[in-house]
Amino acid sequence: MAKKKIGILTGGGDCPGLNAVIRAAVRTLLSDETEVVGIQFGFEGLLTNAVVPLTQESIRGILPKGGTLLRTTNRGNPFEYQIIDDGRVRCIDRSGEVLENIKTLGIDGIIAIGGDGTLRIAERLCDMGIPMVAVPKTIDNDLEATDYTFGFHTAVAVATDAVDRLHTTAESHDRVMILEVMGRNAGWIALYSGIAGGADIILIPEVPYQPKEIVRTIRSRQREGSKFDIIVVAEGAKREGGEESYLDTTSRRLGGVAYQVAADVAQNIDLEIRVTVLGHIQRGGSPIPYDRILATRFGATAAELVLRGDFGKMVALRGDAILPVKIHDAVSRMKYVDPDGALVTNAREVGISFGDGR
Ligand code: F6P
Repeated sequence: MAKKKIGILTGGGDCPGLNAVIRAAVRTLLSDETEVVGIQFGFEGLLTNAVVPLTQESIRGILPKGGTLLRTTNRGNPFEYQIIDDGRVRCIDRSGEVLENIKTLGIDGIIAIGGDGTLRIAERLCDMGIPMVAVPKTIDNDLEATDYTFGFHTAVAVATDAVDRLHTTAESHDRVMILEVMGRNAGWIALYSGIAGGADIILIPEVPYQPKEIVRTIRSRQREGSKFDIIVVAEGAKREGGEESYLDTTSRRLGGVAYQVAADVAQNIDLEIRVTVLGHIQRGGSPIPYDRILATRFGATAAELVLRGDFGKMVALRGDAILPVKIHDAVSRMKYVDPDGALVTNAREVGISFGDGR
């Protein structure tokens, strides 16, 4: 009897732990009855036939490595595939070709590892009859269906290290240090690293800030004898009544809010301000042990679902268990920081300001 062929792909931005998921899934799947192939560059690989065998040999040593063995891209959505037509960008639907190629390649099921965009594509392909299992991925930790996504705690560790380093130089120079971290729609990385690093002010998308409140906090700390301040700001934070800060408005690439915060308060304080934008350092490098374990459990459980023929599911962490949830129920349900929740309340109790005057 012919072996079953299972494809694995990674889509969207990369994230520490992707290789650990791939390794766990391959190890769980490989047998006399099942072979595994890697689809490169996300769903794009199904349009270009970029498919490679995944064997015990090809996954050796990848557990601690950042990035993804299978490469990835933010483009290549087969349902809205961008082409240049007459000098203008136009979207076409190439999902029919994807279906055709899956058949030609003899792929019997796919594990798609990705964020919201990848999950949506997986859901639509599933509806068209492709057996799919999804694994959620984002350092932003903003998917409602799972308690945590792998990569988040690694990003928090990197951001916390940055806060610690900024502390010592802020203290030496009597400066306000503003650290911009990732977090497009949700401020989880800013909140966790801000609490872990002992920030004075945390600014997140869920709580629009008022410049006068940031100034008030800085002055009140000065009256109490502190001559430096640490502000952690999520890239998606905005001033009350203001807009997000984009590096590029066409592609909606966020960035630069830390400079906005600096400009908002500079005139009204007598301390020097310095800005650090942490950027993709948060996404690169080796996953911390927590993320390696979570990624391994996600990969192994996704493979179990495939072997059981339980498709249309996404693996999710609920408490201490890894459970299957319907991709359909997980898609587009974002998890935001609750401004009245326990974490923000505890942060306020220890004196952290959210720039909102509460
Ligand atoms: O979704 C994760 C994320 O890290 C966001 O916080 C950030 O805005 C985005 O990716 C940046 O991704 P890229 O530079 O790859 O477009």
